[in-house]
Amino acid sequence: MARAKESWNSRIGVILAVSGSAVGLGNFLRFPGQAAQYGGGAFMMAYFVAFLLIGLPICWAEWTMGRRAGQSGFNSCPGIMAYITRHPAGKYLGVLGIVIPVVVYMYYVYIEAWCLGYSVNFLRGEMVFPTADAAGGFWETFIGNSKNGAAVGFGLKEVGLYLVVAFIFNFYLIYRGLSRGIELFCKFAMPTLIVLAFIVLVRVLTLGSPDVANPHNNVVNGLGFMWNPSKVMVQEAEETVDGSRRWANVEELVGAEVIAMKKAALEGSADKRVATITVWQQLRNPQLWLAAAGQIFFSLSVGFGILMTYASYLKKSDDVVLSGLAATSTNEFCEVALGGLITVPAGFAFLGVAGVAGQGTFALGFKVLPMVFSNMPAGQLFGFLFFFLLFLAAVTSSLSMVQPGIAFLEEAMDINRKQSVAILGIITAFGTGFVVYFSENSKALDTFDFWVGTFLIFILATIQIIIFAWVLGLDKGFEEAHQGAAIHIPGIYRVIMKYICPLFLLTVFVLWVVVNVFGYSFETGETNVSGYVKDLVGKDSNIVAQMSIGLILTLGIFVALVISRVKRYKELEIRS
Ligand code: ALA
Repeated sequence: MARAKESWNSRIGVILAVSGSAVGLGNFLRFPGQAAQYGGGAFMMAYFVAFLLIGLPICWAEWTMGRRAGQSGFNSCPGIMAYITRHPAGKYLGVLGIVIPVVVYMYYVYIEAWCLGYSVNFLRGEMVFPTADAAGGFWETFIGNSKNGAAVGFGLKEVGLYLVVAFIFNFYLIYRGLSRGIELFCKFAMPTLIVLAFIVLVRVLTLGSPDVANPHNNVVNGLGFMWNPSKVMVQEAEETVDGSRRWANVEELVGAEVIAMKKAALEGSADKRVATITVWQQLRNPQLWLAAAGQIFFSLSVGFGILMTYASYLKKSDDVVLSGLAATSTNEFCEVALGGLITVPAGFAFLGVAGVAGQGTFALGFKVLPMVFSNMPAGQLFGFLFFFLLFLAAVTSSLSMVQPGIAFLEEAMDINRKQSVAILGIITAFGTGFVVYFSENSKALDTFDFWVGTFLIFILATIQIIIFAWVLGLDKGFEEAHQGAAIHIPGIYRVIMKYICPLFLLTVFVLWVVVNVFGYSFETGETNVSGYVKDLVGKDSNIVAQMSIGLILTLGIFVALVISRVKRYKELEIRS
């Protein structure tokens, strides 16, 4: 069956589509949460190192390999890997580049639906929460946190309706095709969401100190909490098991006056003190590096297999170096300058350190912020704008998670758009239904996010850079990247791509497994196997987590079986 060859319409269109993939919930929710948790300024240093050493080089590698294989009509990760490696195993490595975006889509579109639901309810003036607990109560009911099946409902204050709308909207745009669907939508959505973010940002930065009883809870201190490189902590003496004494952090202090007052109050105390934790002390914490690297991947959509697919629709003469840089820079701008200045300072201005420190990503976005918007003048409008911009950002990302699967089905099964949309629609509807139904403690969502949205991404990113630098080879890779390039990749990136990036990734990955799987704590030296592992094996295992892994494996096996039957992939090996 002849398929029309897809391509991008314009250079700005492709840059907006790729930045659209990158700019998403990760920028406005995940990033502020991570930065606040890991000490703001110190986190930013690790974050920029990770950006330069792994984010940017893998982006360039994905763009380059994608464009190269695209010239021979390969648009999916298995096809691109088969084309670049010419090895029988190559195409199977590409399984990850289908499983990751498809599984992440299954829960991402659900969170997208929360944002749509929140924006509609803010517009209706229904979101009035005097406290964060009240907002939290609404959220937990909305997502059915209490028991499985509780999220399935289609009223205006239930998630089902919004999920159906978001789901169909994504597939409608995908069905329209690359340039008439994804590109057109991103051309509209990206500038719109940036303008909306500016409006909300101005509102947040002019909040001053909204709580007259607590004048230190203000925007300036909120920015300090988010960005100061060093931290000032109240510490408490505690006995360790061997009888020695150590100082444990109990509370962060922000603002010169607050620090001075606390110091005066604790003068002469033997058990408590005020201490400054320098940026260098914070940078010694491996967890901070893991968080920074994970954020860079998630945020840039690196290691998903998405960028490869998008780049495969470029022409041979289209630039990839400057376009790649432009798309990543747009993402960084939206993340650091917009996302980084809205969520945490707004929460801090109303609730102080206690309200924002240690809050998870979702709690910040769906408990703290709705309460913040409820309590500011014209808050219903600003709440609507914020959650609507989140929705737009999420759609431009979720579209990019669907396209790799569509490209794969069309390429591997030789079917047309209608058929591929129908097949992937059914698969993802089943997966999303699974996430929505098994809503108790967000178990299915959480399991997918941990094993696929974090763990597998590390693996695919590592495979990609090794294939680029070692299998394709740096000389060929750089020559290919520079075809039609508007700028040159600095020479230092030869060393970075060949040695530093894979080493950095491997180190981060090993540390990640030690900390997040085996549960080793670098602070206390204790080991406590992660809940994600306990969920899968042993007496405390959880059936929903096990079924989630079963679903991921089934999908992987299905993709591998389809791959094994594709003649075009096999022919690549024969010709080598
Ligand atoms: N890159 C996308 C985001 O940040 C997945 O949300």
